[in-house]
Amino acid sequence: MSTDFRRSTVYQIYPKSFCDTNGDGLGDLRGVIGKLDYIQKLGVDYIWLTPFFVSPQNDNGYDVEDYYRIDPRYGTMEDVEELIAEAAKRGIGLMFDMVFNHVSTRHEWFRRAMEGDPYYKDFFFFRKGKENGEPPTNWESKFGGSAWQYVEKFDEYYLHLFDVTQADLNWDNENVRKEVQKIVRFWMDKGVKGFRFDVVNLISKAAFEDDDAGDGRRFYTDGPNIHKYLKELHDTTFGTDAQIVTVGEMSSTSIENCYRYAGRDTGELSMVFSFHHLKVDFMGNEKWVLVPADFQKLKNIIFQWQTGMAEHDAWNAVFWCNHDQPRVVSRFGSEGRYWKESAKMLATIIHCLRGTPYVYQGEEIGMTNTDFTEISQFRDVESLNHYQILQDKGLSASDALRIVQIHSRDNGRTPMQWDDSRYAGFTAEDGAEPWIGVNGNHDRINARQQLEDADSIFHYYRQLIALRKELPVIALGDIEPMAEHHPCVFAYRRTYEGHELIVAANFYGRTGEWKEAPDLTGFKRVIGNYAEESRPEGGVWSLRPYEASVWYR
Ligand code: GLC
Ligand code: CA
Repeated sequence: MSTDFRRSTVYQIYPKSFCDTNGDGLGDLRGVIGKLDYIQKLGVDYIWLTPFFVSPQNDNGYDVEDYYRIDPRYGTMEDVEELIAEAAKRGIGLMFDMVFNHVSTRHEWFRRAMEGDPYYKDFFFFRKGKENGEPPTNWESKFGGSAWQYVEKFDEYYLHLFDVTQADLNWDNENVRKEVQKIVRFWMDKGVKGFRFDVVNLISKAAFEDDDAGDGRRFYTDGPNIHKYLKELHDTTFGTDAQIVTVGEMSSTSIENCYRYAGRDTGELSMVFSFHHLKVDFMGNEKWVLVPADFQKLKNIIFQWQTGMAEHDAWNAVFWCNHDQPRVVSRFGSEGRYWKESAKMLATIIHCLRGTPYVYQGEEIGMTNTDFTEISQFRDVESLNHYQILQDKGLSASDALRIVQIHSRDNGRTPMQWDDSRYAGFTAEDGAEPWIGVNGNHDRINARQQLEDADSIFHYYRQLIALRKELPVIALGDIEPMAEHHPCVFAYRRTYEGHELIVAANFYGRTGEWKEAPDLTGFKRVIGNYAEESRPEGGVWSLRPYEASVWYR
């Protein structure tokens, strides 16, 4: 395991959809243990596991009821300890997912608050409504509807930026911050090597005022005390152990704030996830629409974050996929004839950037969006809410379904496709039906087949991950965008102490001409998704459909 996060790669597991060992249709921790050899083959340094703490599972574990106990559906504390130990044997560190913006309304703190205990009421945001009977502010929940829930007993509302069963914690209360620190230290003592902090830039709320221009996010995103709270968390917990790597999930953040969240010497976090590059198929912030992906915008955003963070000596997490995103091969690549080429092309772009790459389970075998045809097949609370909201706005059921099919988080949550058996090897063939439907294409797209095929997407990821370790220019080099305005080429140059790397990709399924292509004299191709090399001729590089290659000197 590389303890330098700049040279590392992280594999993300959504345990509920990864591997089920007891046939109840839900993935579990023993399933993760059983697949550690597979993960080790990829060559990653860390595994980020999404939450498996006790939870009513209204948001699949992002609604935590008890941070110190394991949800029995996932396993036991012994399983967690074994997982940490078995991963360590394979040179892999565990990163746990800490959800501290909110707790489940079944958490003891919230229950006590609801009993009227003033100490715990101050752990949350209880506020009076407006005189006209409306909630305290017009803010919207990220999952749809008002962000406030009325509690008759108090004639007050509590704030929930997400589901109504996810109550926002009041970080301005020092007792909340102390409890959070205790939880982080508890898991550090168990040997956890990293943390991912869920929507952590939302923890500091500014004024509770109506937002005339939006959904309220400007009042709680990158809020007034955010840097103070992160520094304090750093200093009192993971900052005492230089080996621990941290990543903050930053919702609708600004790059200026990220210079500080993830600056080398700012004493906050190792790196950040930002999402602007994954809104290029939205209409502004509105996700529930059908809009073609804007390639120019995608490049602008990625390059702006790459060069901006580098100039400020700050570090990005780089990624296309996670459990909240559609599958990238369906989104920006192709499920058809060029499925394999496009999946490899997209991987090439991410894995040679300046930042720590994250691979989300199934991405390494080119898993696609769901093939669901009915709303009853979807599970995600956000998708189900918006399916209704879209129809309330006047869309037909079939138009609403179409939008959900494209944007649903469930696209990333169907069971991992291990083989071509009935349930894709996620659960035993005679086991219970998986909690969410298996994609019918697991007969073609599965890990078993790809492990055997030297030309598979899996082996391409493995090579990219190894390349980052071999060539310091990938981990440590500067970055310079190329072909910035080209309509189909995504390209950049990396440089480090006399070493040079050029990454060139055709983002589309037709041949593209790159005029004024770089001179590759003295370079050798270190990886590419076509067996036969192509090079510029007379300054013009003709790139085949979804072709990507990396050149080094
Ligand atoms: C993050 C998680 C997402 C969850 C939300 C609320 O965005 O990645 O899955 O629903 O936070 O906790
Ligand atoms: Ca299970």
